[in-house]
Amino acid sequence: MVMASGWTPATPVRTGSMSMAQSPLSGQSLAVLSALLEARTGQQIASHRSTRVDTVLLPLMRERRIDTLDQLVCAVLDGRDPQLAGRVIDALVNCETSFFRDPHVFDNIVEAVAEVEREGRRARIWSAGCSTGQEPLSLAMMFADRQQTQGRPMPEIVATDVSEAAIARARSGCYTQFEVQRGLPIRQLVRWFEGRPGNEWVARPELLRPISFRQMNLTIDPAPSGQFDLVLCRNVMLYFAPDPKERAFRTLAGAMRDTGLLILGAGETVMGQTDLFQLASVGRGMYRKSAAPDPVFRA
Ligand SMILES: C[S@@+](CC[C@H](N)C(=O)[O-])C[C@H]1O[C@@H](n2cnc3c(N)ncnc32)[C@H](O)[C@@H]1O
Repeated sequence: MVMASGWTPATPVRTGSMSMAQSPLSGQSLAVLSALLEARTGQQIASHRSTRVDTVLLPLMRERRIDTLDQLVCAVLDGRDPQLAGRVIDALVNCETSFFRDPHVFDNIVEAVAEVEREGRRARIWSAGCSTGQEPLSLAMMFADRQQTQGRPMPEIVATDVSEAAIARARSGCYTQFEVQRGLPIRQLVRWFEGRPGNEWVARPELLRPISFRQMNLTIDPAPSGQFDLVLCRNVMLYFAPDPKERAFRTLAGAMRDTGLLILGAGETVMGQTDLFQLASVGRGMYRKSAAPDPVFRA
């Protein structure tokens, strides 16, 4: 039986090392939230901000006038509010991101795109797990600068995330003062964003135009169509359970050209996680499909 929340009671429940003393949630409610999160995203709650479950759900409880976490879980399960399970997931996933996160990665990306252009093609880049859009917007800014200064083509950028709320914000291009202060050089801020009252900054339409945003679950949904030269999937799969992680790697590999490169986050690796990818020698944190030859960047 699949309940209105999309959670199947048969889904294995992992509560892991969660300390009950740290959470006012009952064990049963925590088990329901864990199963819901894993079914909807592939992530396990045990290692995933387990002590903060109550804190991150508080704003949603206030909005819906729900007093306790157990009542919130009951409301998810009774299915009368079809949006509620999605809102709980949006609150539970870790959307931490920033502009030009790990800046050296962007140098590697420029090199990789130049290599694709030497083959006479316009590069296609997929930002998988793009959160609120800072990663694809950083790519768009970097390549728009290069287009203006060097006349090089703008790569096609596809950006996806499982969270409806994150994708909606990414599409809006709206950021707070705090968010633009994280990693965005002032020159880029002034050039590509418009200030609005209330310390809000909105990306100019021409910056958003080359990016196509889409809600997509990496562990279930088909990849965006076409083959990608570069796939960024940074800091997304850290807390995935083994089976969803393997499914996600398969989806990423299936969406890449044989010569394509996968870029994971600074603390991530494919070693011991999947046989589908191998470390590429062209840059730190870059992986190629196992069957493909090791790429070389010609200057
Ligand atoms: C920590 S953020 C990383 C954002 C960005 N890639 C970066 O490194 O700055 C992780 C993102 O992965 C998304 N995510 C988690 N599970 C996912 C899944 N199964 N499919 C697609 N996106 C997922 C979350 O919604 C969140 O926005």
